[in-house]
Amino acid sequence: MCGIIGYLGKEEAIPILIDGLKTLEYRGYDSAGFAVVGKSNFVIEKSVGKVALLEEKAAKFKKNGFNTGIAHTRWATHGKVTELNTHPHSDCSNNIHIVHNGIIENYKELKEKLIKDNHKFVSETDTEVVAHLIEKAMKDGGIQLEDAVRLALKEIRGTYGLIAVDTRNPDKLIAARNFSPLILGIGKNEFIIASDAAPILKFTKDVVYIQDGEIIEITSGGYRISTIDNDTINRTPQYLDWDTSTAQKDTFSHFMIKEISEEPDAVRNSLRGRLSVEDGEAVLGGLKGAEKNIGRIKRLHIAACGTAYLAGKVGEYMLEEYAGVPVKVDFASEVRYRKPIFNENDIFLAISQSGETADTLASLYEAKEKNILTLGIVNVVGSTISRETDAGIYQHVGPEISVASTKTFVSQVAIMALLTIYIGRKKDMSMVMGRRISSELLKIPELMEKVLSQAQIIKKFAKVYSSYDNFFYIGRKYNYPIALEGALKIKEVAYVHAEGYASGELKHGPIALIDKGFPSIVIAPQDSVYEKTLSGIEEIKARGGKVFAIATEGDGEIAKLADSVFYIPKTLEMLTPLLSIIPLHLFAYYVAVARGCDVDKPRNLAKSVTVE
Ligand code: AGP
Repeated sequence: MCGIIGYLGKEEAIPILIDGLKTLEYRGYDSAGFAVVGKSNFVIEKSVGKVALLEEKAAKFKKNGFNTGIAHTRWATHGKVTELNTHPHSDCSNNIHIVHNGIIENYKELKEKLIKDNHKFVSETDTEVVAHLIEKAMKDGGIQLEDAVRLALKEIRGTYGLIAVDTRNPDKLIAARNFSPLILGIGKNEFIIASDAAPILKFTKDVVYIQDGEIIEITSGGYRISTIDNDTINRTPQYLDWDTSTAQKDTFSHFMIKEISEEPDAVRNSLRGRLSVEDGEAVLGGLKGAEKNIGRIKRLHIAACGTAYLAGKVGEYMLEEYAGVPVKVDFASEVRYRKPIFNENDIFLAISQSGETADTLASLYEAKEKNILTLGIVNVVGSTISRETDAGIYQHVGPEISVASTKTFVSQVAIMALLTIYIGRKKDMSMVMGRRISSELLKIPELMEKVLSQAQIIKKFAKVYSSYDNFFYIGRKYNYPIALEGALKIKEVAYVHAEGYASGELKHGPIALIDKGFPSIVIAPQDSVYEKTLSGIEEIKARGGKVFAIATEGDGEIAKLADSVFYIPKTLEMLTPLLSIIPLHLFAYYVAVARGCDVDKPRNLAKSVTVE
C-alpha cells in the first residue's frame, strides 16, 4: 500500500513531510517524493529507494517558505519502479500535483481520451490521469480546485486516498477518500492529513476520519468536509491516544492478526477488475502476449516455497478438475536438483509474494534455460521474479509485514482460481461453469468476513489447546494443502510440532501416534470427500485422540463425533480453502500469543529467504 501525507500550516513543510514518510516506511514502498508550494514558487523532488535518499535531495531547501506540501511513498501497482512513476504526479501545466493511494481501474480509457484532448503524459501510472482530469475540469469550467476534484472523481472508477495541491494557491489542499484510508490531524493553525495515523501523532492527537465518498478542503482558516455532491458534513474530531507503533498496527496487537483481518480485502484486491462474470471469463492483463501459448498448454509446472508452494498445491486440484490441465507442483529447492522434464507447450509458474526467494528464482532460471514460457504470481512489483518471468499476475495486496504469510496466501489461492478460469475457458470449460465459479469467487470476501467475525471462538479453542506440543492437521483433496498450511503456520509462529497429512494416509502408519496428548485438527467441509473424512475422524476417536473439526454451517453430524467444531459457510468445493484456512491462521496466531512467542518475528525465520 502507498503512504500519503499533506501538510498546511506555518512551519516549513519539507522536514515535516520527510519525517512523516519515515513513519510510513513500515507499509513497504519502493520510491518516495514530495511537492511543496510557497507564495512564489514550488519544488518537486522524487527518489527511487529509501526516504533517506529523498531527504538528501531535500537538504538544499532549508528555509524557503514552503508551508504547504504533499508527499508519498509508492508501492508500485501500475508501472515500473522509476523516478518518472514516483508520485507526486502533475498535469500538463505543472500547476496541479497529486499523491494517491489506491487503484484507478478505468485509467486506460480515461488516459486515451485525455491524450486525444492533447494532454501529455510522462508516467506509466494510473494516478497521473487524475491530475490531468483536474486540469481539464479547471480549464473547461474556470472552477476552483475543490470543484475540479469533484468532477474528476465522478469520472474515475476505483479506489483512492488522494491529496491535490495547486501551485497557484498555496493556501489550499484538497483530499478525497474512496476505500483507501485518510485521516486529518488538527493542530494549532496547522493541518496534517495522511493515509494513517502514524505521521499525525507527532503533531496532534485530535483527528477526524474521512469516510468513503468524502472530500475535504483544507486552508489556513480551517477545513470543510463534504460529499462528492458538495453537501457539507459536520464531524466531531476525536482524540487518538495512540503511540506511533500502535498506529502502524492500527488497534491490532501484531501485524499478523492485522494481516489476517485483511484477508478478505486481499482477495478483493487480487480479484479487482479481473473477473467478467457475464462472460464467465478471467481478465488477466499481465498475461497479455502469452495467451496463445497458454491456450496450447500441455502441463503446468509450479515451483514455490513454504506457504506459496501450498497455494500452488491448491491450484493443482483446481486446474486439474476444472481446466483439465495436468499440474506438477514442486518445492523450488527440489526442482533445481532434480532433472525436471519440460516438454514443448509446458509452462512454468513461480509463486512468490516477495519475488526474491532464492530457491524459487533458481528454479525459474532452470525453466528459462529450457525455453519454456515462464509465468509469475508475485506481490512485490518490480521484484526479481516479476522481472525475470515472461508474464505474470501481481497480487496487489500491499506489503505483508509479519514473517508468516497469511493475506498473501489467500491472495495466491484466489489468483489460482482466476488462472483456472482463464485457462479452463481456453480449454473445455463452458461459459456456464466460468460464470458459476466467477460469481461464487466474488462472494468469497464477504464469506471470509463472516468467518473472521467468529474469531473469538478460535481464541477460546486456542486457550484449550495451547498446552499441547503435537498436532495432526488432516485434510483431503482441496483441503489437504490447507492441512499442510495450517501445520506450517503453527510451527512457524508458535514453535509447536504439527504434521499436515492427507486424511486417507493416516491408517498407513501415522495413526500410531494418536493418543489423548496428540490432538487432530480435521478439515471436514461437506464436500465430495466428506463421508471419507468422517470415517477418518472415527478412526482417530477410536484411538482416544481429540478432534477439533472445521465443518460446514448446518452440519448436524460432525458435532456428534468431534470434541470441538468450528463452522464455515458453504461455497464451491474448490473455493473452500479460502474459508477453511482462516480458522487455522487464527488458531496459529492465538496459540502463539498464548505461548508468549514473538508472533511477527519468529525465531530463526526471515520474511524473504534470499539465500539458498
Ligand atoms: C510462510 O508463512 C513463510 N513466511 C515462508 O514459508 C514463505 O511462504 C516462503 O519463504 C516463500 O516466500 P515467498 O512467497 O516470498 O517466495
